[in-house]
Amino acid sequence: MEYSEYYRDSITNKEQFWKAQAANLQWGKMPENILSKNKQGHFQWFADGMLNMSHLCLDAHVEKGNGMQVALIYESPVTHKTQHITYKQLLDSVSQFAAGMRNLGVGEGSNVIIYMPMIPQAIIAMLACARIGATHSVVFGGFAPHELAMRIDDAKPKLIISASYGIEFGKKITYKLLVEDALKEAKHKPDYQVYYRREKHFDSLGGQRDMDFEALLKCGAVGYRHLPSTHPLYILYTSGTTGTPKGIVRDTGGYATALRFTMEHFYGVKPGEVFFAASDIGWVVGHSYIVYGPLLYGCTTVLFEGKPVRTPDAGIFWRMVEQHKINHLFTAPTAIRAIKKEDPEGALIKEYDISSLKYLFLAGERCDTATYNWASEQLQKPVIDHWWQTESGWPMLGTMMGFEGQSPRAGAAGKPVCGYDIHILDEDGVVIDTPQTEGYIAVKLPLPPGCLTSLWNNEARFKKGYFEKFPGYYLTGDSGFKDEEGQYHIMGRIDDVINVSGHRLSTGEMEELVSSCPDVAECAVVGIADELRGQRPIALFVLKDGVTATEEETEAALIQLIREKIGPVAYFRNAAAIKRLPKTRSGKILRKAICQIADGKQFNMPSTIEDPDTLKEVVDTLSRRKLGMAFE
Ligand code: COA
Ligand code: AMP
Repeated sequence: MEYSEYYRDSITNKEQFWKAQAANLQWGKMPENILSKNKQGHFQWFADGMLNMSHLCLDAHVEKGNGMQVALIYESPVTHKTQHITYKQLLDSVSQFAAGMRNLGVGEGSNVIIYMPMIPQAIIAMLACARIGATHSVVFGGFAPHELAMRIDDAKPKLIISASYGIEFGKKITYKLLVEDALKEAKHKPDYQVYYRREKHFDSLGGQRDMDFEALLKCGAVGYRHLPSTHPLYILYTSGTTGTPKGIVRDTGGYATALRFTMEHFYGVKPGEVFFAASDIGWVVGHSYIVYGPLLYGCTTVLFEGKPVRTPDAGIFWRMVEQHKINHLFTAPTAIRAIKKEDPEGALIKEYDISSLKYLFLAGERCDTATYNWASEQLQKPVIDHWWQTESGWPMLGTMMGFEGQSPRAGAAGKPVCGYDIHILDEDGVVIDTPQTEGYIAVKLPLPPGCLTSLWNNEARFKKGYFEKFPGYYLTGDSGFKDEEGQYHIMGRIDDVINVSGHRLSTGEMEELVSSCPDVAECAVVGIADELRGQRPIALFVLKDGVTATEEETEAALIQLIREKIGPVAYFRNAAAIKRLPKTRSGKILRKAICQIADGKQFNMPSTIEDPDTLKEVVDTLSRRKLGMAFE
């Protein structure tokens, strides 16, 4: 079948389509009820099915006689280590760690927070949770203790699993101390903290409720138990418009079905191939395509504790492709931009044999044409941009490389992936699918299997954030348009979410923090274009009358505040003083206009502006401080 026929079938014949896909998995009980509604009235898939994700990712392969196949290659240039772990070895460690957790009273209904660097123990912890029905919530290691504390208070974990430290460009990130700081702030107290000690002789435990990761591996082993398909496999917090992150809840059966489907039909992978998603397990890409997707499909997955550049150089990806015979590489455009900056002629690419590589997949942020073209010319491989979100858990737009005759191209995010009935809507919810007309990108309900099933503990926010604006549709939060070839173009977020180096962050949250500074009367935090990182946040702030602090002093305090509260990944480096902020007559700050001025884009003077001179002040301030592409 061709893509278009398969796609049409996935929309017009949904239940049969996904039933057939689900049948590719080993269920404990095959679902008969394919699509139904839950108590809250939301669609759910495979409600009466039973399965276990760790069984699908591990036992199923060992039972088939593939136990000696390498499941995981751990490549850590920061510790000069490479480790190959077979399916059997991974199964043993996961079964043991699951037994250790069970001894601590963790089981079905318990939440477990995992806050770890990119080491195999993080994946062992995730799969061990899945084995015993605990719901994990992995928190990205680049987040500061305050962010971790908010997640602890929301998820109320029984256990936190962490490590003594991680390494970032030669700096030690002391995870254990960060956990301790978070616990001082959080109201909820987990029963235990489990630490993987990277250097046994130096890394002490200390606290009464501190447990040694390795000691938990010595409590026997447990088998898997089939769980309901709707069982929450994980909660993954992501940024929204407010300071409180939202906990995306993912089911088990729908997710497994969707991931299995994408491995074959989207990424065009064959079992046994080597899949390298150069992301972090703290992000959705890490969950879906470092851990669950490749493992349940019987691939070898690569866990990379390093960066695309400077660990040790911009040739690391290509060296790994040669060394591990990587077939599929998935990374963020930022990583390619960083490589391109350090190796513009692609000299390092030529040093390695990259013939095993079939495709380069890019996602997480908009891919500019220059980056796309550079990668495609240097690698001489198909480059596939694809668009998706933490909420979807798997690609929504892209070029499905599992089908014959597909030709991805630069400048567009692709066509709808099977299962997603995507439309462009205007402000009133009217479908405006006419080419080149920009609007809200929305997906007609039901969403396909594997997408978010709720927001943890927050039904009201779930409904309001995604389903209320356009009844019958899921609101993606992005705007865009379709072109004459049916390719979609993503224009950006419609809310206060920005993407810094492929990391999703909330300017709304940063604004709340900046406003909390006693000297600041009001402020606007916006994401401006950044050549390397895609976007970066800056603040414009108005000082309170009578404040004696200088602009420099306030800026330094704000930079420190964001670093302390959100983390260095926010890359908040500038805050400029301004006399007045541009506002509408009803008092709304014109953030979009500030971005457009900074980025040097054309903009129409909003008819509702209170005082047009305030935009002139924005121009003067940005130009004085050389902030934004237009003034650098
Ligand atoms: N843990 C702790 N700190 C982290 C971190 C982590 N996991 N990731 C980044 N940081 C820190 C960095 O050390 C840096 O700290 P500093 O201000 O003290 O120097 C800060 O956060 C900003 O980091 P970053 O924006 O990553 O800049 P960089 O110059 O260190 O690296 C890139 C630039 C492009 C190499 C890097 O951003 C990168 O690899 N990007 C790709 C990200 C990606 O794959 N995202 C995919 C999501 S799907
Ligand atoms: P996250 O939930 O962290 O995966 O971030 C999702 C958001 O990143 C999307 O809503 C988009 O705004 C943006 N995004 C992801 N992939 C792409 C892409 N290929 N092109 C443009 N924007 C993207």
